[in-house]
Amino acid sequence: KKDIVILGIESSCDETAASVVRNGREVLSNVISSQIALHTLYGGVVPEIASRKHIEKINVVIEEALAEAHMTLDDIDAIGVTYGPGLVGALLVGVSEAKAIAYAKNLPLIGVHHIEGHISANYIENKDLEPPFACLVVSGGHTHLVIVKDYGKYEIVGRTRDDAAGEAFDKVARAIGLGYPGGPKIDKVSKEGNPNAIAFPRAKVADSAYDFSFSGLKSAVLNYLNGCKMKNIPIVQADVAASFQKAVVDVLVEHAMHAVEEYGFKKFAIAGGVASNSALRSAMEEACKKRGVAFYHPSPILCTDNAAMIGAAAYYEYLAGTRSGWDLNAVPNLKL
Ligand code: KG4
Ligand code: ZN
Repeated sequence: KKDIVILGIESSCDETAASVVRNGREVLSNVISSQIALHTLYGGVVPEIASRKHIEKINVVIEEALAEAHMTLDDIDAIGVTYGPGLVGALLVGVSEAKAIAYAKNLPLIGVHHIEGHISANYIENKDLEPPFACLVVSGGHTHLVIVKDYGKYEIVGRTRDDAAGEAFDKVARAIGLGYPGGPKIDKVSKEGNPNAIAFPRAKVADSAYDFSFSGLKSAVLNYLNGCKMKNIPIVQADVAASFQKAVVDVLVEHAMHAVEEYGFKKFAIAGGVASNSALRSAMEEACKKRGVAFYHPSPILCTDNAAMIGAAAYYEYLAGTRSGWDLNAVPNLKL
């Protein structure tokens, strides 16, 4: 059987990324140009700046990805590109680039859903992982509990009603003076803190066992900080971070394991930027072990935005016959 080599392109938020992936699971190159330092000045991603930076970097990262894989565009069988969800201007850069290459080289064009990409990151290092399985996708923009029925076939059983998990990390980090991006910083300082120091709420959503809500937790942290200031109680940054992180992790683990048990899954995966959180990983690992469930997770570099995951997802879409037309457009609120 002939190898299928896919060039994956990702530009939905603040990472410009390109990757060459063989047969969906073998990453030949994975180039990521992060804009984090640029956006740190503003405390978060500025969409217009992101779009402009993507335009500057997109050709560079694609050239690097091909060079690292010791390939040229003549060796590529298809182009996979994220077309949503994400920032419209940022997405358009990747989509336009992918269309231009596909048209010029007469290659199949495959639009990929960003979340399908995050989930597919699990296939890269876990060669034995195949659907069906349950997957918790936790990133800056999404908190989805997904049932992966088959390649390209998903059912969302739980989602956040307000803030995404990563968004909560970023907002709380800002409030306790850690800056942007908050997730990795909270992860790090939490190691020095006591996760049981402050009793933050574990929110339940009244009519759903699987849905999440993080805005109440964020408010509870802000109220706690204000209370300390008013009463002149010193704020221990590491304790606030660790207690907040524990509250998020507890809820994510509880809901995910509830779904695993109800649906009887023996395989569970995590994905998305927050999936690189060390406390979440060890708590999920333990919870899965206790239930005899196999636990899968990508390496941290494949959890946060990258194009290897887009190449992996595009491969299975390619096999299923998915082809996008020249009218492929950026869809900021694309549904899975
Ligand atoms: O998947 P991603 O790169 O972009 C989106 O699709 O949103 O996720 C970025 C999010 C940010 O909110 C960031 O703070 C969070 O993932 N994140 C983390 C960690 N690393 C990244 N959150 C908690 N712990 C981490 N170690
Ligand atoms: Zn993402």
